Amino acid sequence: MAMARAHGAFLLQLLAAGLQVVALAATVTVTQTDDPRCRPSLPRRGAIAVYPSDMEQLQFLLNPKFVEAEWFLHAALGRGIDYLDRNLSAGGPAPVGARKANLDFRTTEIAAELGYQEVGHIRAITQANGGFPRPPIDLSADRFAAIMDDAMGARLDPPFDAYNGTVNFLLASYILPHVTAAAAVGISPNLMGYASKRLHASVLAVEAGQDAVIRMLLYQRADETVAPYKGRTVAEFTRRISDWRNDLSGCGAKDEGVKVLDRHQGAERRTISNILGAGVDSLGYQRTPAEALRILYGSRNEQVPGGFLPQGANGTIARGFVQLA
Ligand SMILES: *[C@@H]1O[C@H](CO)[C@@H](O)[C@H](O)[C@H]1NC(C)=O
Ligand SMILES: *[C@@H]1O[C@H](CO)[C@@H](O)[C@H](O)[C@H]1NC(C)=O
Ligand SMILES: *[C@@H]1O[C@H](CO)[C@@H](O)[C@H](O)[C@H]1NC(C)=O
Repeated sequence: MAMARAHGAFLLQLLAAGLQVVALAATVTVTQTDDPRCRPSLPRRGAIAVYPSDMEQLQFLLNPKFVEAEWFLHAALGRGIDYLDRNLSAGGPAPVGARKANLDFRTTEIAAELGYQEVGHIRAITQANGGFPRPPIDLSADRFAAIMDDAMGARLDPPFDAYNGTVNFLLASYILPHVTAAAAVGISPNLMGYASKRLHASVLAVEAGQDAVIRMLLYQRADETVAPYKGRTVAEFTRRISDWRNDLSGCGAKDEGVKVLDRHQGAERRTISNILGAGVDSLGYQRTPAEALRILYGSRNEQVPGGFLPQGANGTIARGFVQLA
């Protein structure tokens, strides 16, 4: 009996020691950041971090990102980039028409998170590649209302108010990150430096996630009517906004709503749900800078500014189009 008890105590000691080892191991993996297995593989000898030509490509993304940052932050908080970091705008004018949206608590949290993410991306891109002043940005309710009328092929009555209610806010948000993500995919073959590729992948990972979050929230409401527009569902709005983007950009079908009408448009041609809008083999669509600008300008023409960017986007690529005009 005593023997058995001693044996039991020994086992307990062993167990405790084992747990300590496990605990120690856990501490070690968490704290030891100089573990070579935690470091990304070193670039090959002589590899260049950032090529001069990378800079204008990554800078191009600052344009949609300024628009998104101001949209999400104002919708959530009633104030934008300047409230967080005076330097990021580099003296560019404050956006016009942006204001706090009438959102439920969860959606406010989500909008704020997405807005802060954009601020981080603007900072990271600017620090690595240089930047330019925030371009003039128009986020007025009238701007969104005009887009929705155009997309729906009808004059919505009352005019669509992007700031009035969670569903309206999500539908307005649907317009932006999908284009930015596709533009980010589009520039990828042009990047050559290893630091540029790393930054690009990290930015794209989060941008695509933002698009997925918005699309998922809309998919959950896909069959609901968008009040007060009788018979017009959330799914139909997303389909028509996607068609509108395809139409404006003029480069074929690269965009579908969150719920498609034909299974052949879904993943492996088998789904009606289309939460992650993608092409054949579920590969994300790519858009050129020109296509992205045709949509952001709402003009079908990368040489004709308008829409969210009334004076045009900035940086070498976007200014180059205007100089050609
Ligand atoms: C903004 O720029 C000024 C001057 O270069 C600098 O002192 C300050 O720390 C910067 N602020 C932020 C938030 O980066
Ligand atoms: C673009 O940036 C330059 C400075 O780099 C500035 O002078 C110009 O006003 C900006 N244009 C727009 C449309 O933001
Ligand atoms: C805002 O939305 C509510 C509920 O959908 C609606 O009753 C109201 O008329 C809307 N207000 C405006 C100004 O569009």
